[in-house]
Amino acid sequence: MSLSASLQAKLDETVTILKGIANEYSPATFANSFGAEDMVLTDLINLHNVGIEIFSLDTGRLPAETYQLMQEVSNRYDKPIVTYFPKTASVEAYIQNNGPNAFYQSIELRKGCCFVRKIEPLRRAIADKKAWVTGLRREQAITRADLPVSEWDADNGLQKFSPLADWTEDDVWEYLRDGKVPYNELHDKNYPSIGCAPCTRAIAAGEDVRAGRWWWEDPKNKECGLHSKAPS
Ligand code: ADX
Ligand code: SF4
Repeated sequence: MSLSASLQAKLDETVTILKGIANEYSPATFANSFGAEDMVLTDLINLHNVGIEIFSLDTGRLPAETYQLMQEVSNRYDKPIVTYFPKTASVEAYIQNNGPNAFYQSIELRKGCCFVRKIEPLRRAIADKKAWVTGLRREQAITRADLPVSEWDADNGLQKFSPLADWTEDDVWEYLRDGKVPYNELHDKNYPSIGCAPCTRAIAAGEDVRAGRWWWEDPKNKECGLHSKAPS
């Protein structure tokens, strides 16, 4: 291991936060989308044997490359990843009423698809937990600029932790390369942020890192609801 001193300090702090969550907020669970940040947390939780569960929301529309990485992760690490699928009847009804790719037609239909395929399964995943952990970083979007490491998630009724809040993109990649941690091969094809296949595309040089997510929408709408707060 040969991390820079500044990253080593952030890393030590992150491990301390993760262990603190396991000690004080059990049962806690980590939401793993298999993006680059989430591979850092997956690696740390496994390496340090931290008592935090890991779950993933399999929307049924993920890119083939994400399923390939899921397989690599299950081969490499001991801790199982609990998978949550959307409810069959809800997906069937959505497709019956709107069609399979209706998310391109309006924000309402896009949010409706995200609700069925992500939000409702997320609620089940965190229902009986005291805390959930995410790979969110402040740098990722204007909507995330004030992200705290720890906050009360009033909508879901549990504590929410983002231990990588102050990590930069370079920090993430330094960690992954140094530890030879597997990552989604789409990241090498100009996909800095990866979600469902039909709603993610590569970005051009100079574009914002989240420009490839729901690219047909206004940037201020670009949250699927996993992390947006209900209006108060
Ligand atoms: S999103 O809201 O735009 O979809 P993004 O892809 O940036 O979110 O991921 C931010 C964090 O949300 C991830 O680090 C992860 O903790 C959680 N997350 C997003 N998608 C999933 C998923 N499919 N399964 C589990 N967690 C997810
Ligand atoms: Fe549906 Fe796209 Fe949302 Fe995935 S990101 S749940 S395919 S609208």
